Amino acid sequence: MRVTAKAQPNIALIKYWGKRDTRRNLPAVGSISITLADLSTTMSVEFDASLGDDILIVNDRDNIDMLPRIKRCLDNVLGEGRQSARVDSHCNFPIAAGLASSASAFAALVVAADGAVGPGRDTAELASLAGMASGSAARSLCGGYVELQNCGADISVQSLRSADEWPLKVVVAITATAPKPVGSTDAMEISRKTSPFFGRWIDQQAEDLADARAAIGARDFAKLASVAEHNCLKMHSVMWGSRPPVIYWNSATLACMQTVRELQSQGVAVFFTIDAGPQVKAVCEPAAEPRVREALAATAGVEDILVSGLGAGAGLIADE
Ligand code: DP6
Repeated sequence: MRVTAKAQPNIALIKYWGKRDTRRNLPAVGSISITLADLSTTMSVEFDASLGDDILIVNDRDNIDMLPRIKRCLDNVLGEGRQSARVDSHCNFPIAAGLASSASAFAALVVAADGAVGPGRDTAELASLAGMASGSAARSLCGGYVELQNCGADISVQSLRSADEWPLKVVVAITATAPKPVGSTDAMEISRKTSPFFGRWIDQQAEDLADARAAIGARDFAKLASVAEHNCLKMHSVMWGSRPPVIYWNSATLACMQTVRELQSQGVAVFFTIDAGPQVKAVCEPAAEPRVREALAATAGVEDILVSGLGAGAGLIADE
């Protein structure tokens, strides 16, 4: 039976950077993100013993690069004695360009694989399995404003607010689409082992999480903007202080940050955040979205603009 799930990428406002257990891929810190609505990965899984080996197709082409991670994730969901699978993935946004495509991919994969064998695990178990594949993927199980907590030996995820309750917009400025110099998995370990700022980053995370939680609770845009930009810049400072340094920005990344700061000085409700890539994500109130989009599109070095609202978490969908 072919089972299909859909998941959206999420953008961290309070970032996950660093692991406390690399074997189980457990994060060293909690994080808070927003799940997007308009970017998505649709993943179909079909188990068939006659295949002999797993097959991965991404956007209608065979893909062997991601296959080992997909295999491991399926083994974690179903056990190593499972049948071979044909996995068919469609992504409606650029893959591996710092837009959290692995988050939506693994969230959709665990939901589809679990659905294929039924009776179905709960969100906590699915988030834990998605997180083993990619830490940020655990957050895509939930919609709206999502907190991932480090609790005891595991993680938990919960939605702090739905997308409808505070429907902010995200304008993504694409400044480069070349593969990143170093993936986030390796870069986090470089930071943990070498950055003199890593310990302080871990120590301060609880305070940033509390501030962001309170801002989301009160729908206080200025407060959320302040803590999110602070947390983002701190994460990049940890990276820059690593040996070798981990630098994901290009000159257009900086130009976009400057554009956002100029908009802020004109009273526009917008803030930036940047992940393990050179793209700038500008989070804004809905009324500000046309102005933010126009200003970022006119910024030197911006190649493309994507706009999304906030949406729901991963789930099974009817097969097409
Ligand atoms: C900068 O979830 O991609 O986007 O668990 O090693 O797969 P792995 O890392 P990943 O890291 C995301 C890092 C980040 C911040 C965030 O999304 O919280």
